[in-house]
Amino acid sequence: EKGGFDHFMIKEIHEQPQTIYDCLRGRLNAAEGTIKMGGVDNNIDKLLNANRIIVVACGTSWHAGLVAEYLFEELCRIPVEVEYASEFRYRNPVILTGDVIIAVSQSGETADTLVALENAKEQGAFIFGVVNAVGSSIARISHAGAYTHSGPEIGVASTKAFTGQLAVLTMMALKVAKAKGTISELRYVELIRELDAIPGKVAEILKDTTAIQKIAEKYKDASDFLYLGRGYNFPVALEGALKLKEISYIHAEGYPAAEMKHGPIALVDETLPVVFVATKDRFYEKIVSNVQEIKARRGQVICVATEGDTVIPGMSNDVVYVPDADEIVGAMLSVVPMQVLSYYIGTYRGIDVDKPRNLAKSVTVE
Ligand code: F6R
Repeated sequence: EKGGFDHFMIKEIHEQPQTIYDCLRGRLNAAEGTIKMGGVDNNIDKLLNANRIIVVACGTSWHAGLVAEYLFEELCRIPVEVEYASEFRYRNPVILTGDVIIAVSQSGETADTLVALENAKEQGAFIFGVVNAVGSSIARISHAGAYTHSGPEIGVASTKAFTGQLAVLTMMALKVAKAKGTISELRYVELIRELDAIPGKVAEILKDTTAIQKIAEKYKDASDFLYLGRGYNFPVALEGALKLKEISYIHAEGYPAAEMKHGPIALVDETLPVVFVATKDRFYEKIVSNVQEIKARRGQVICVATEGDTVIPGMSNDVVYVPDADEIVGAMLSVVPMQVLSYYIGTYRGIDVDKPRNLAKSVTVE
């Protein structure tokens, strides 16, 4: 049942080229330059006229929501809020007509998310579910939705469901942008091609993970990790830190790289591994100077860099490469080394990574 792998987590990590492909299949047509999604097509007016999108989710799904914030604001020019379901439901939030709520959930059963949606629905919000588990409570309460088609996720740590969420949210943002006219035809077609290439690029990352395993071996006894990224890679840094905490019980924090000087930099010394998501996107120059700031304080710099980069390797203690991609789709690549790194650190520490202590796969109590 684990398909020759030691754990469900690593099996599910390796399934991602296929699960992302399954998510795109039947929707994205790169040759024709089209995206079909029934839930979006049938409710396009709701999305086009949205004054605001509120993403409601927990945990890893909340991180996917943060990526969606960048996507929808940039491509569709719609203001987006990303809310922890547990906070949103209890603070008497302002919900206005014309608000669209995007609920993101792997299990479709997360209690806080479900109740937050029930409340918002009563107040007249339109609910769009981005859910993995077919027929789940959140799928049923939504007015419309799109399944991620990632298949059953058994490992407690979410991996393939996250990249499936990103694939769905990216397709949605592209469709809305196209219908709204906030994206040029050229850019739209270019991004469709970029998205279409993602499964192959994820396969490339996973073809040989020995470099990541070596890094895991080297840092497995660290007591703290810092994860830093900017732009679309900021949520990836948060997700990297969450994966490590869950699976290895090592304390880790994710931060926007520039926010580091407002506090966390005080933690840096020669014992602290700092993972940078330093791919070649529009923030590359900025992240290079953030890496220098950590080096100057003798932190151990581990970088996720773009293949062919010649600057980052010279500045890092350790490097892992991902294929070049447009930043709009890049998070689906840069998160993969994070998942693999956590998996190996967890297993080298002797932890049952599929069932880490204190965690449940589906959090049906608040
Ligand atoms: C992290 C993880 C959790 C879930 C969270 C939301 O690896 O699995 O943080 O992401 O409990 O669960 P869903 O997506 O099922 O609503």
